[in-house]
Amino acid sequence: MRLKKSGVVVELLKCNSEGDIDLEELNRKIDQHTRLVAITQASNVIGTIVPVADITEISHKKGAMVLIDGAQAAPHLEVDLNKIGCDFYAASGHKMLGPTGTGILFFKKEYFEKLQPLNLGGGTVSDVYADSYKLVKNWERFEGGTPNIAGGIGLAVAVDYLRAIGMSEIRRHEIELTAYFIEKLKRINGVRVHGKMDPEKRTGVVSFAVRDIPSHRIAVIADELGNVAIRSGLHCAFLLTRDILQEEQGTARASFYLYNKKDEIDHFIEIIKGIAGNG
Ligand SMILES: Cc1ncc(COP(=O)(O)O)c(C=O)c1O
Repeated sequence: MRLKKSGVVVELLKCNSEGDIDLEELNRKIDQHTRLVAITQASNVIGTIVPVADITEISHKKGAMVLIDGAQAAPHLEVDLNKIGCDFYAASGHKMLGPTGTGILFFKKEYFEKLQPLNLGGGTVSDVYADSYKLVKNWERFEGGTPNIAGGIGLAVAVDYLRAIGMSEIRRHEIELTAYFIEKLKRINGVRVHGKMDPEKRTGVVSFAVRDIPSHRIAVIADELGNVAIRSGLHCAFLLTRDILQEEQGTARASFYLYNKKDEIDHFIEIIKGIAGNG
């Protein structure tokens, strides 16, 4: 929407309530003027895993670049950028056990000279003249000023930690927990569970609503009664949560990771039953 202000034409591709987009519609929408297709690999609201390799192939055939938001995918899935083939891939550090304020932006080498650094500052230039400057020849040109050194080290340690456990093992554990939770959750009267029911097709973020109870209230009760921390509201995805899922009051969202256990789910399910009035 900000790009729109500088004359860029921005088109939205709508998904259905399970987070699927129509690949034929995508193919139709991309024309010779399309520069970039930006897509999220895994929904932060309903966990849907998007076929990003297919989307990249369709986009590249038509000459468009592809940017993937992997914030909810990189921490949970085995991501192979060579297989996906995208031009840009972003992920955030704090969602993969790293420190806040860290993240990753991958782009193909061919864009190195084409991209202008967002900020200039210490470390970005190799030479300065009275009326011009030369940028350094490595990635440091994109990191103006003193970087978040401690954060970078912390992120690398987090990556090593996840790798040592193995992303396939993390995924296996999450599928098990997600299946277990959804199975119990959908049996509670008055609860609406959103997204795909098949745990293989989603990550471990599970959005739900209970009767007409505001989602923030569910989160507060879960915290105060059960010491369970969940996210609630519109999840920075207003169009999906409010317009597509039709949850005006937002959803409550449980999100599982490698440290969660089944008995925590049992405990949480009892709290939800109480909130729904069938406890
Ligand atoms: C899909 C998705 N993209 C982007 C972000 C933003 O990440 P960050 O806060 O690291 O900028 C989030 C969560 O905050 C997210 O879930």
